[in-house]
Amino acid sequence: MTSTVFDRIGLLYTGDPEREEVAGAALVVEDGRVVWTGRAGDDPGADERVDVGGRCVIPGFVDSHAHLVFAGDRTAEFTARMSGERYTAGGIRTTVEATRAATVPELAAGTAALVAEMLAQGTTTVEIKSGYGLTVEDERRCLEIARGFTDETTYLGAHVVPPDAASADDYVRTVTGEMLTACAPYARWVDVFCERGAFDADQSREILTAGVKAGLLPRVHAGQLGEGPGAMLAAELGAASADHCTHLTDADVEALASAGVVATLLPGAEFSTRSPYPDARRLLEAGVTVALATDCNPGSSFTSSMPFCVALAVREMGLTPLEAVRAATAGGAAALRRTDVGALTVGARADLVVLDAPSYVHLAYRPGVPLVLQVWKGGRRAV
Ligand code: NIG
Ligand code: FE
Repeated sequence: MTSTVFDRIGLLYTGDPEREEVAGAALVVEDGRVVWTGRAGDDPGADERVDVGGRCVIPGFVDSHAHLVFAGDRTAEFTARMSGERYTAGGIRTTVEATRAATVPELAAGTAALVAEMLAQGTTTVEIKSGYGLTVEDERRCLEIARGFTDETTYLGAHVVPPDAASADDYVRTVTGEMLTACAPYARWVDVFCERGAFDADQSREILTAGVKAGLLPRVHAGQLGEGPGAMLAAELGAASADHCTHLTDADVEALASAGVVATLLPGAEFSTRSPYPDARRLLEAGVTVALATDCNPGSSFTSSMPFCVALAVREMGLTPLEAVRAATAGGAAALRRTDVGALTVGARADLVVLDAPSYVHLAYRPGVPLVLQVWKGGRRAV
């Protein structure tokens, strides 16, 4: 394979804590990996040259939390919310009904469209959850579809108890039994919506523990609608990530920090449900690694845009632009326990975004403007 030098990079955000930003940089890619970064003019040469023209280059975004396999939309629910209705997650059942009624090609086409939207906005790694099937076969087929788009697939049979379940206990038995057996071959992760009205601490522990026994790694939807046991459970089980973290007690924050659980913040959900934003600075000050993700789903956050989430995190959650970009790249990689993506260090996958801007700060400074000019995935031009 040929090598490529990205030359005349105005500002390179590497994601390498040792040398996070390089002004006037170049970067060399070979066989889909980064092999050199440094000052423009000092590069060792390559077969091809891409003139970045003084623009900013960042790693591809790592969107570590998304629910992309579904059918239908919930425009009416959103409109009602914008006129004052509260978000309760009750609408999940509407999407479950539409998803069950859809064919595999329909679901796959919807997922493909969202993945393409994400790529066009700079996302080169995405996690995709099931959770809108909620029968053995519907969850299995959703995960099989997800697997066609990413290795970062998550079994979320425990999204809510579906209305047709005999009882909550009966449904937990299915989620930890037959459904898990059918889904595990397509999943890397197991997740649970640990929240009042969904699954309590004991049910969530049982579900995650069963998933771990089946070879999956745990992550948790925690503290979205109110304070609850999700963050503590994530810490107890050594989960990679606790997601949402909108409502956390001081003890929750301490537990996440000491267990090394990433807090994945999803500002699109606060935006779309008119909820108060979490305080990201409180988490950083306690030593918690923060990730930013879209939570892309038809109910609580129908955005596929990491640049939008970066802008929200800066405006509403107390992150500096640098911290927000770090959370959207290296933070997401940490939430997925990946060391090959989320940073442009030697040996990393050459997933990079050329912004039509001199600095990543413009992602927050110019919100809503399509600044993603080029996307390269594994060293190949994808957008
Ligand atoms: O992450 N919290 C649970 N799941 C989704 C919402 C799903 C829905 O409303 O359809 C979330 O926000
Ligand atoms: Fe979610």
